[in-house]
Amino acid sequence: DVYGEGRRNSAGLDLSTRADRFRLSAAVTVLDAAPLQSGPLVGGKMEAGGPPLPVVSPVDAGRVVGAVSEAQLPQIDKAFKLARAAQGAWDQAGGPARAKVLRAMGDALEANIERLIAILSREAGKTLADGIAEVREAVDFCRYYAVLAEKQFGEPEVLKGPVGETNTLGLAGRGVFVCISPWNFPLAIFTGQIAAALAAGNAVIAKPAEQTPIIAYEAVKLYHAAGLDPRLLALLPGRGETVGAALTAHEGLDGVAFTGGTDTAWRINQTLAQRQGPIVPFIAETGGLNGMFVDTTAQREQVIDDVIVSAFGSAGQRCSALRLLFLPTDTADHIIEGLKGAMDALVVADPANASTDVGPVIDADARDALEKHLARLKHEAKVLHALETPAGGTFFGPVLAEIPAADFLEREVFGPILHVVRYKPEDLEQVAGALAARRYGLTLGVHSRIQAFADDVVRLVPAGNAYVNRTMTGAVVGVQPFGGEGLSGTGPKAGGPHALLRFAVERALSVNI
Ligand code: NAD
Ligand code: ALA
Repeated sequence: DVYGEGRRNSAGLDLSTRADRFRLSAAVTVLDAAPLQSGPLVGGKMEAGGPPLPVVSPVDAGRVVGAVSEAQLPQIDKAFKLARAAQGAWDQAGGPARAKVLRAMGDALEANIERLIAILSREAGKTLADGIAEVREAVDFCRYYAVLAEKQFGEPEVLKGPVGETNTLGLAGRGVFVCISPWNFPLAIFTGQIAAALAAGNAVIAKPAEQTPIIAYEAVKLYHAAGLDPRLLALLPGRGETVGAALTAHEGLDGVAFTGGTDTAWRINQTLAQRQGPIVPFIAETGGLNGMFVDTTAQREQVIDDVIVSAFGSAGQRCSALRLLFLPTDTADHIIEGLKGAMDALVVADPANASTDVGPVIDADARDALEKHLARLKHEAKVLHALETPAGGTFFGPVLAEIPAADFLEREVFGPILHVVRYKPEDLEQVAGALAARRYGLTLGVHSRIQAFADDVVRLVPAGNAYVNRTMTGAVVGVQPFGGEGLSGTGPKAGGPHALLRFAVERALSVNI
């Protein structure tokens, strides 16, 4: 436990207790009665942005969670100016001082856990269990990066050199970071990116996803209440192609931390390449085409449980989710039958009910894309099982389909559709090689009782996070540092010991006195 002596991961709430279930349903009722708002928060003040737009819940098209005003160009300039003015003192204050604010933020998140989960459930369609996990992860990021700030941004390291000369190497913040986040972890990733940038001594301008501006507004208010100089953190909500594009083209930025789709990362990379001024780091965490390889020695019931969670948990809307299940021809039918039975037991419904397993997908565009893909599967492949889709919100019943090979999938399919590929054990090298050739590298699963099989798969399919004989989602901060390679991202891994390094510059100092 080198990077967190005494650090504990957040405990969250316990859905098996009546008291915690009651606290959560009371919080949802309060939220439903009082819609919230979001808009540009610059210097701690809400500024008048574009005309307010309704934020509609994916759970029910008739339910408005609140309203959001899009940030305007003058607010973007103002946010950069204030951030620049405040960043120097924050950087000079040192890691331990910054750690205090991050710990206060972790405590503030825990103190507001019910309200935050209610917003996650209504605005992002998260089940209560996913909401609990998400708040815990946000807390963990704050506390873990606080430890790193203390350890890595305290006194500079003294290096060996000539007698009479003192040589040191220290880390410092880069300046102003733009943090751009997705809707699928609208609290954990949003809070975590900001915590990492702040811990390293930067100021931050944060742009949340269009679909989830309200939880982001709440998080920024909590950061300010936790003692952060409001100039050090601005919220600029809005569309990617307007606000996101203006932020990443801005001459005032010193780095970009982005999590979202691979296509968007390419676009941002191009925008950055056309900027004048300092060359800045681009930290991008993107999508995956994640496979799990099962062999004939795998324990069937465990495979079924782990596949159901990995593919259909969070309605398949995790970058880490299982998309391609490789089954050996000898046992494939037996496992597929088990999967169909386990799918029938899934409850697809309002995520605010404690018994719901699968909530809605984020919006109508996401559902339309899944329906289009399902139509293709029906024509060009084989649908093995499909659950009913409930009416009301943007629900999509989980689907199990069989495809001939990994290259049937043109891109990441973001939702509860699992693709099975049958393979002959003697073809493992070629089948795994075809997946690796797609150049994604996020998560990988293996189910086998034979160590050599697991080793072979891990060698053949490079991935940032590999999991053997367990689920392949839900990385825990400080335990499974998370992030991909290739088309899946640049690193450094979130929640790992090197997470802050690309948010910082290194400065060497040689002194002869
Ligand atoms: P997205 O790429 O559509 O949007 C992500 C963010 O980028 C949003 O805030 C969006 O407004 C912004 N954006 C869009 N166009 C932009 C532009 N031209 N310039 C600047 N910003 C722009 O992704 P999404 O739909 O919100 O999220 C789902 C995707 O995120 C999936 O591909 C998923 O795999 C990925 N994801 C990856 C990780 C990871 O850690 N690797 C974690 C979560 C999600
Ligand atoms: N970190 C998230 C997971 O592991 C995306 O599922």
